[in-house]
Amino acid sequence: MSGPPPTAWLNTLLGLLQWAQQSLLTLWHTLGLTGEMHGQPAWPWGTRIAGETLLIDLGQARQLGITLIAVALAMLAVLVAMLVRRWRAVALGVAAGFLVVAPWPSAVVLSSAVPTSFHASPTAFSLGSIANGARVYNAACASCHGADGRGEGPLAATLTRWPPTVVGPLLGRHADGELFWHIAHGMRDAQGVATMPAFANRLSDNDIWAVLDYMKVLAASGGVRAGGWPLPLALPALSVRCADAAPEPLNAWRDRQRVRVVAIDAASAGQVPFEDPRFQTLLITPDGTLPSPALPMRARCVVSGRDAWPIFAALAGTTPQTFSGTQLLADRNGWLRARGEPGTTWSDADFLCTSAPRTAEPPRAAGLDTLIARMDAEPVRYVKGGFIH
Ligand code: HEC
Repeated sequence: MSGPPPTAWLNTLLGLLQWAQQSLLTLWHTLGLTGEMHGQPAWPWGTRIAGETLLIDLGQARQLGITLIAVALAMLAVLVAMLVRRWRAVALGVAAGFLVVAPWPSAVVLSSAVPTSFHASPTAFSLGSIANGARVYNAACASCHGADGRGEGPLAATLTRWPPTVVGPLLGRHADGELFWHIAHGMRDAQGVATMPAFANRLSDNDIWAVLDYMKVLAASGGVRAGGWPLPLALPALSVRCADAAPEPLNAWRDRQRVRVVAIDAASAGQVPFEDPRFQTLLITPDGTLPSPALPMRARCVVSGRDAWPIFAALAGTTPQTFSGTQLLADRNGWLRARGEPGTTWSDADFLCTSAPRTAEPPRAAGLDTLIARMDAEPVRYVKGGFIH
């Protein structure tokens, strides 16, 4: 007999631990035992359970998982002891037994925490927030982190420590709240010397969340060229306008359908695709208006505003100049999954958000139906600090 693959049980364990810690924080806050910081309940302890360590150290993760089961069984036995008088002694003995035999993991599974460790971004990864983040990033961060996020800005070589690249697992692995904290309050090396400057007195909380959104776009953009998105990315929150109707938020319009995003400009105006029952079709144009004249049976919903064109171009790993004709596919849960280059047929290599290891084999032509089937069969199971896809 073989157990489920480690990814499945480990992700469940990590998800459970995340939920338990978050619930504890909510309880603590409701009881008035901890206040707020940066607008959300502050984690009052100096440590938290380190999902990122468990991910690397399967042995520790297994031990912690078994210990949690043992603790749950011990609690059950205590309950029995309380309810059934006759069995009290035996049940308490059993409870103690579970606690003794549990393979308690070592302190390695804890890591240091900050008050914002469990904070969630309030931006919904919206186009407006990403555009604001781009402005903040280019003004305050690019000098060290580089315009493309690879950590090779003009000032990088003058620093005692090289800034890390965001084009990799960094932003997917670290808790959003801890990245937020490091931007707001800076970072220091083991000797206490400042490495990353603090921005809390120059940027608002919103600006810091926004710049994190933009860094995720940089990670996606650089990642595409290396063969895949290094972290799962949701379709940004945006507003959709269909023909002459009033604009609607994406989520209401999408209604849990798959979405195909298609970039159309003056050069490709004749190629507005037909409506397709397999997904909702969302057009992106440079100025946020529908290409005219509207053709019958063709897609007629467009993203409002001018921010979408450059941002989606970056997500697709291309430039605004070469974006025309590019397509992106999002699954029913709103995660971006694949990108089709203009004028080519879909292939395996277009599936950019996947847990399958990349092979050196040349990409096989896959066809849109195959990609959609794969997208549905391999849903994104994203647990912060857990497996990426
Ligand atoms: C003076 C150069 C400099 C500037 C300006 C700068 N950074 Fe950094 N940043 C660094 C260095 C160096 C590190 C690595 C610090 C370390 O590991 O001790 C870093 C680390 C980071 C990290 C990784 C944090 C983590 O948890 O590992 C993030 C995210 C980050 N910077 C974001 C930003 C943002 C956003 C801005 C602009 C608002 C910015 N940085 C401006 C130098 C800089």
